[in-house]
Amino acid sequence: MKELQRMPRTVFVNGEYLPEDQGKVSIFDRGFLFADGVYEVSAVVNARLVDYPAHMERLGRSLSELRMEWPCTRAELDTMHQEMIHRNDLTEGIIYMQVTRGSADRTFNFPKVPVKPTLIAFTQAMSLVDNPNAVTGVKVVTTPDLRWARRDIKTVMLLAPVLGKQAAYEQGAQEGWMVEDGFVTEGTSSNAYIVKDGKVITRGLSNEILAGCTRRALFRLAREEGVEIVERKFTVEEAYAADEAFLTSASQFVMPIVEIDGKRIGGGQPGPVVRKLRALFLQEAGA
Ligand code: PDD
Repeated sequence: MKELQRMPRTVFVNGEYLPEDQGKVSIFDRGFLFADGVYEVSAVVNARLVDYPAHMERLGRSLSELRMEWPCTRAELDTMHQEMIHRNDLTEGIIYMQVTRGSADRTFNFPKVPVKPTLIAFTQAMSLVDNPNAVTGVKVVTTPDLRWARRDIKTVMLLAPVLGKQAAYEQGAQEGWMVEDGFVTEGTSSNAYIVKDGKVITRGLSNEILAGCTRRALFRLAREEGVEIVERKFTVEEAYAADEAFLTSASQFVMPIVEIDGKRIGGGQPGPVVRKLRALFLQEAGA
């Protein structure tokens, strides 16, 4: 993806807007020491946030599942997102935000004396709407799902996805589809879908996958459009034999997949169902 942003960016650290080279957190931060933190990635199109309320709802859930404090009020977070767009002149790209349990002497249990959560954010300019990958479709490879049992919480503990995505890149693919017991769970940083006989098939929500905000929007758009979505697990073999395949995420939106493990899907071209769903998503995002 093309880097559109001029440097340096303005980043946000614990209430302050700073030049990016001055944004620093403590070496005792529990996010750094234990991955004891959660995050959200929200897309920006035409300087406006996409699916933002859903991201904030999921943030609240992630925090509460880990018994972490909100770092500030929801209104302050809203202002921070708007300021980040404004101060970085961001028309298209993403805002990354992260909350950790804060910094304290290293003990596995929560700090005995309450500490303030750490809140940071930064922007990345990207071509999301006219992403050339959406025209050609992307390749994915399957990779074992090495993650923990609470994948429904959006934590910064991302080593398994890092290794999965790297394995995919080294095989010439753009995404890894993680596999457990022969079934696809999700992408390393996206939700996974196949299309068979006009129906979209994707795994149902549970602790085994992240409840994607883009997934949620897609369900609504598909329902309005009369496209049926079946929530169930699918195997790697079913994926090879699918008519179409695609992924969703805040940074990819609805992205066609044309190859899985070197096997062409749908003749190697983005199919009609995914093209329609991407177009609907872009329209709703204000592209
Ligand atoms: N990742 N599943 C996983 C494991 C993810 O990391 C993501 C998002 C998704 C899709 O969720 P959403 O539609 O809310 O973006 C599913 C973000 C984009 C990231 O880590 O960069």
